[in-house]
Amino acid sequence: MKVRKAVIPAAGLGTRLLPETKTVPKEMLPIVDKPAVQYVVEEAVKSGIEDILILTNRSKAVMEDYFDYHPELENKLRASGRNEDADLIRRVADMANITFMRQKETLGLGHAVLCAKEFAGNEPFAVLLGDDIMAGEKPVTLQLVEAAEKYGCSAVGARHVALDQIGKYCTLRYEPVEDEEKIFRILEAIEKPGPDQILSDFAILGRYVFTPRIFEILADQKPGYGGEIQLTDAIARLAKKEKVLAVDFEGRRFDTGSVTGYLETVLEYALHSPKCSAWLREYILKKAKELS
Ligand code: UTP
Repeated sequence: MKVRKAVIPAAGLGTRLLPETKTVPKEMLPIVDKPAVQYVVEEAVKSGIEDILILTNRSKAVMEDYFDYHPELENKLRASGRNEDADLIRRVADMANITFMRQKETLGLGHAVLCAKEFAGNEPFAVLLGDDIMAGEKPVTLQLVEAAEKYGCSAVGARHVALDQIGKYCTLRYEPVEDEEKIFRILEAIEKPGPDQILSDFAILGRYVFTPRIFEILADQKPGYGGEIQLTDAIARLAKKEKVLAVDFEGRRFDTGSVTGYLETVLEYALHSPKCSAWLREYILKKAKELS
């Protein structure tokens, strides 16, 4: 089994960042000097993905423009000797074979993934949430691809989270796999569990690799939490039919879809960017003195 394709669902309404997200997609918000979704595409490319489908909606057309050529701007940059900038904007469009599709109704993440059925065809594929950035030595998607390819089945990214936060995520019941330390088999999954539904502190976070069997399940998946077609509910059903792995991945996750999550991401990346880290460190120290 070889994973060559990826789906990036970016069709959510982004209500945690209103009013900004009324017209500007949260996936296009700058993390220093690149939109969030570019980090996600870069992770996919570093994980060996060749074809990417980005799911959008009617207020996110700007994402298609971003991953297209811009000959007018490029020519202008080259004419004024700014070849590096011209190459930079061209590279964005050449990173991978990227296509777009609209999820016409925001019916939930499970429904968004179902929209990718034709794109995936009969192949396994990765899913990377467009507003989650994963930072670390080894791309998280690659960690999942390796587990999926080793065991010939679906594999999702999972982490232990604080128990008082588990209600924001999903909760897993799981068992060990052979002599693996970081890979487990999912037995049960509940989306946004209430206090009496918690199975463990182990939750799925933002990255997935699926066999095409997920589409059979999503096709008749009933709405779950919040009235949305939940991907977690489909994963729970898939896990009853075939092996689904939860990989306790290495790397840090940034949720850019909330105000504080977005600010944390920007600050963290800015602190490591050659363009602004020296300035930001100085600014933070000055501010800290003022505040203390
Ligand atoms: P979120 O739970 O972050 O929802 O979706 P949201 O609508 O984007 O944002 P809030 O909660 O209202 O602020 C998780 C992922 O699933 C995608 C989102 O784009 C995000 O990447 N999604 C969600 C879809 O593509 N379609 C949907 O119908 C729902």
